[in-house]
Amino acid sequence: MTKKNISRRRAIETIATGSAGLALASLTRVDGASANEERGAIISSPQTTAVANAFRGQHQPKPLSFDAAKLKGLSEKLIKSHWENNYGGAVRALNAVEQRLDAMMKDKDLPPYIYGDLKREELVRTGSVILHEHYFANLGGDGKAGGKALDLLKQWFGSYEQWEAEFKRTANGLGGGSGWVILAHNLYTGELHNYWAWDHMHNAPMGRPLLVLDMYEHAYHIDYGAAAAKYVDAFMQNIKWEEVNRRAEAAGKANLA
Ligand SMILES: [Fe+2]
Repeated sequence: MTKKNISRRRAIETIATGSAGLALASLTRVDGASANEERGAIISSPQTTAVANAFRGQHQPKPLSFDAAKLKGLSEKLIKSHWENNYGGAVRALNAVEQRLDAMMKDKDLPPYIYGDLKREELVRTGSVILHEHYFANLGGDGKAGGKALDLLKQWFGSYEQWEAEFKRTANGLGGGSGWVILAHNLYTGELHNYWAWDHMHNAPMGRPLLVLDMYEHAYHIDYGAAAAKYVDAFMQNIKWEEVNRRAEAAGKANLA
C-alpha cells in the first residue's frame, strides 16, 4: 500500500469514529510527517482538486501587544500560559480542522452527520481564536475609559458606572464556569449591549465585539483560584480603551441597521 493510500485510509478511519475529539487527536503526528505532507498526498488523489482557500489552515498566532510582566493584578505566568496554551492551542486546532475539512469535503462517500462533527469543531475553534485575539488586544491599557467608547456607554447605559456594574455582574454570573462577556455594537439593531456568551459559539448575531472578557477558569485560576470576581476587578484595571475606541469607530462606519 502506498503512502498516499495509507494517509487517505487513516483520514477516513479517523473521521469514521464520529468523534471530533478523536479526529483532532489524530492530527498530532507521531510519525515525523507534517500535516502538509499528508494533505499533499491526499489532494494528489484522482478524486481531489486544489486546496480550497477556506481550508488552507495557515492561521498564525498574533503576538501580545503589551509586556505581560506589567499588567496590574494579572501575573506574567497567567498571561503567558493563557496565550501559549489556550489561545495557541485554538490556532493550532483551527488549522488542523481546516486542513482535515479540505480532505473530507472531497470524500463523496462520507456521511453528512460525520462531516458535521468537524463543522462543529470549525465553529468552536474559529470562535475561540477570534475572541481570544480580541481579549488580548484589549488588555495592556490604564483602564480609564474615554473617547468614542465612553460616549457610547453613556448613550446606551446612562453612565459609565451603570455600564460597568452591568458588565461586571454579567461576568460574575459566569464565574466558576466558562464563557465570555462581550460588549458589542450590534450592527443589525444599532444598539450597544453586554452580551453573555456560554462558549466560543455563543454570540449574538451581528454583534461587533468592542470589549471582550474571557471568563473561562483558565483565564484566572493561576492567580485567583475560584475567586472570579477579583479577576474581573483586575481585568477592568488593564483595559486598553484606545483599542476599544478603534473598534467602536470601525463599527460605527459598518452599521448595517
Ligand atoms: Fe481563554
